Amino acid sequence: MGGGNSIADGLLTLAGILQRDSGRGVETITLSPEAEQTLRNLPAAFKNLSRRPPSIASPVGTPPGLPEKRSVEPVAAPVPVHRHAEERQTEAQAREQLNTIFKAVKNCPECRALGTLFETVVFASGNPLADIMFVGEAPGAEEEKLKKPFVGPAGQKLEQILKAMGLKREDVYISNIVKFRPKKGDGRFQGSTNRPPQPDEMAASLKYIQAEIGVVRPRVIVALGRTAAEGLLEKGGTLASFRNGDHEFEGIPVIVTYHPSYLLRQESESNPEQAMQAKRVVWEDMLKVMERAGMSISEKQRGYFS
Ligand code: URA
Repeated sequence: MGGGNSIADGLLTLAGILQRDSGRGVETITLSPEAEQTLRNLPAAFKNLSRRPPSIASPVGTPPGLPEKRSVEPVAAPVPVHRHAEERQTEAQAREQLNTIFKAVKNCPECRALGTLFETVVFASGNPLADIMFVGEAPGAEEEKLKKPFVGPAGQKLEQILKAMGLKREDVYISNIVKFRPKKGDGRFQGSTNRPPQPDEMAASLKYIQAEIGVVRPRVIVALGRTAAEGLLEKGGTLASFRNGDHEFEGIPVIVTYHPSYLLRQESESNPEQAMQAKRVVWEDMLKVMERAGMSISEKQRGYFS
């Protein structure tokens, strides 16, 4: 980790712990392994401070992957994932690399060869240096229209979840495994209906999300729903089995939770108990995400469902 960033991380972690435990009469504190490691890194980070420049830029509001406004040379190979946090990009570098990936997606021969996906690329949006990356399965009709992920009803539900976490869309990075809306049949009579992506469609697209993760290097990845988890982790499972397991992608923890569409379906199925239970589960997962991201969590947030 860069010295300045490690210090900022360590101090933020410490502040979060103190804030969490203040006023509760707590005499001993329990640290997550990540928080412990972050604090352990502090002394070395102070030593390194004079040798390393700070490297993390502030969040931005404009989405990455808007090639019309940029003039970056296309490259054939996606960016490798194996970068140490010390080498974290500046925001401009990250945007440029994401733009390169966007251009590679446009030509994705493996995706085109399948013939099962529509033409329009729906890339990613949000902060190119976000601590939290949300990964969905594939865009739907509304996303295709606006060329932006999670802008339909599922996106509105995702924004509600983010709001409860104290975040806005622009604070996180939002993407999908598959970057094209899947066709039903030949797509001619599909209207605005959607379908989840198939394994071959996810396999053809995996290198792009992998490359995005390599650029953004979030502290935690959230896989939204079983399909996204299967595509990202390249293994089958139930949502429950994914939720109960520990997962990582290239060393970054992956937390699997219900897709926002599932919450919407539960809400519309007039079973308030079940809908509330699904929300509770997602919120439990989001608290884990916030911990992994080193965010401070208020008492109110901890107690939303108690
Ligand atoms: N569902 C997804 O998985 N992704 C989107 O972008 C929209 C809905």
